Amino acid sequence: MKDPRMTAAVVTLSDKGAKGEREDKSGPLIKQMLEDAGYRVIEKVLIPDELERIKIELMRLADGRQANLIITTGGTGFSPRDCTPEATMAVATRNAPGIAEAIRAFSMTITDRAMLSREVSVIRNQTLIVNLPGSPKAVSESLGFVLPSLKHGLDILT
Ligand code: MTE
Repeated sequence: MKDPRMTAAVVTLSDKGAKGEREDKSGPLIKQMLEDAGYRVIEKVLIPDELERIKIELMRLADGRQANLIITTGGTGFSPRDCTPEATMAVATRNAPGIAEAIRAFSMTITDRAMLSREVSVIRNQTLIVNLPGSPKAVSESLGFVLPSLKHGLDILT
């Protein structure tokens, strides 16, 4: 019988992580949070902050693996290498700004630095893609806030 659970993929963007110079704590945290919420996590990948690599990976996970939800972490700040929002927008078929707006609004109640995340949320065909900042703290705060509302959106999308 087909597994009825929503499928999710986790993408960590980090130059240092991809080189093995920094442990990826945010990817495993997102995987755990998604599984606790009832998702089946079909892939967890770690790639450097390279626009074309990120676009290819997002398209592979959405079109090839048909993930219902893709959560990215990292690369949303102002550092010259940060390009996750640009890669995400480049593969979007529709905008879904409310999720990123909600994350920033809630996060601003915790730290004013939340305004420095350029994270976006979009739809690619039947896949929802949501950017999160890179730190485990920001991941737990941001995803913890929006995760309960995502299921309803995915039910409508799929
Ligand atoms: N959002 C929440 N909820 N908590 C945080 O600690 N950190 C901010 C912001 N968003 C933060 C947050 C900081 S300091 C930065 S620089 C930006 O996310 C971008 O992070 P990134 O470059 O790791 O993606």
